[in-house]
Amino acid sequence: MNEPTSENPTSAKVETETQGTVDPLANDEPRRFFMKAVIAIGAGAVAVLTPLIAGVLFFLDPLLRRGKDGGDDEFIKLETTVDALPADGTPQRVTVFADRVDAWNKFLHQQIGSVYVRKIGDQVIVFNATCPHLGCGVDYRPTTQDFFCPCHTSAFDLDGQKKNDIPPRAMDVLEAEIRNKTEIWVHYQDFRAATEEKIPV
Ligand code: FES
Repeated sequence: MNEPTSENPTSAKVETETQGTVDPLANDEPRRFFMKAVIAIGAGAVAVLTPLIAGVLFFLDPLLRRGKDGGDDEFIKLETTVDALPADGTPQRVTVFADRVDAWNKFLHQQIGSVYVRKIGDQVIVFNATCPHLGCGVDYRPTTQDFFCPCHTSAFDLDGQKKNDIPPRAMDVLEAEIRNKTEIWVHYQDFRAATEEKIPV
């Protein structure tokens, strides 16, 4: 039997009449075991999930960046303005640039195509400059005020409509918006050649 003495006033042993000697720390054992288990499981989960989440984010990164590069609405601002276009509707050829993501690489300000832009009143109309016949570049002919493709002589009027039966369809009109009064934004798309239907590629 351990008696608390003046030499050992903090003795851990307590004696009772009915239960004998009791160690007060013995009741903490299950709780300590539980806490150790929780900590071990938590540490294991962090160790496993951290690289797993990092791997998933790394895999998705190009997809996420592609979404950002395309903007929230996929429109691209042209490097011209409404004010810079001829008021008489003469078409202006404009190169389209955009940032591109190829696998895990990002390429800034890459040429992705060309368009013709016409100002008609306070609106603009934008044509893809690629010939719908077989994909050559269409020229604007000031002398005849029309569009002409030198590859197989497709011709189109200023509204992009066919002037002969060589091309399968009219020139491809692109969605365009005027923003901030003078900026021209276009939803640039290429379309399948040699089809009557306008099919995005
Ligand atoms: S590609 Fe233009 S006419 Fe054939």
